[in-house]
Amino acid sequence: MIQGEERFGVLIPEERVQARVRELGEQITRDYEGKDLVMVGILKGASMFLADLSRQVKLPVTLDFLGLASYGQSTESSGVVRITQDLTEPIVGRDVLVVEDIVDTGLTLDFLLRNFAVRKPNSIRVCTLLHKPANMVKPVKLDYVGFVIENVFVVGYGLDFEQRYRNLPYVGYLKEVY
Ligand code: IMP
Ligand code: MG
Repeated sequence: MIQGEERFGVLIPEERVQARVRELGEQITRDYEGKDLVMVGILKGASMFLADLSRQVKLPVTLDFLGLASYGQSTESSGVVRITQDLTEPIVGRDVLVVEDIVDTGLTLDFLLRNFAVRKPNSIRVCTLLHKPANMVKPVKLDYVGFVIENVFVVGYGLDFEQRYRNLPYVGYLKEVY
């Protein structure tokens, strides 16, 4: 048992997460056949999702990461986004799939898509494990969505509360947020 585990419940069990990741991987494999796909995971939250999803994509993809900070210590989106670690390879002319853990207000993704567009990729699409439509303030097109969820604060499978619980194999929800 992970310390503090009594503070959250299971929202999406590990088997359901993995089954959905397989489905998304199959879909992406079909959609990107013959393309020059680079899968870009947004740190740190999407690291688990990218690791599992990319292994379900049966194509010669490359992987890269972008570090973004938008939240600080709070559970509310500030709307202030900055790049803490940039891509290691250029994306000009490539087919970019942004892999996110969760889209909440959409502010992070909106910032990122504008930033990437300037770099002239051939295409940009978004794959997010979770989508919380309740708080959307910047409507962004989500091409692949794992699960649409209620307006609860979730942890696990890469998602954190104050940097903890990322290593839970399932998606949990916080019963109380301090
Ligand atoms: P947005 O800019 O409001 O869409 O927020 C996106 C980012 O906020 C995600 O990439 C997460 O890092 C973080 N985030 C949003 N909701 C949650 C949550 O319920 N749990 C943990 N992190 C969250
Ligand atoms: Mg994130």
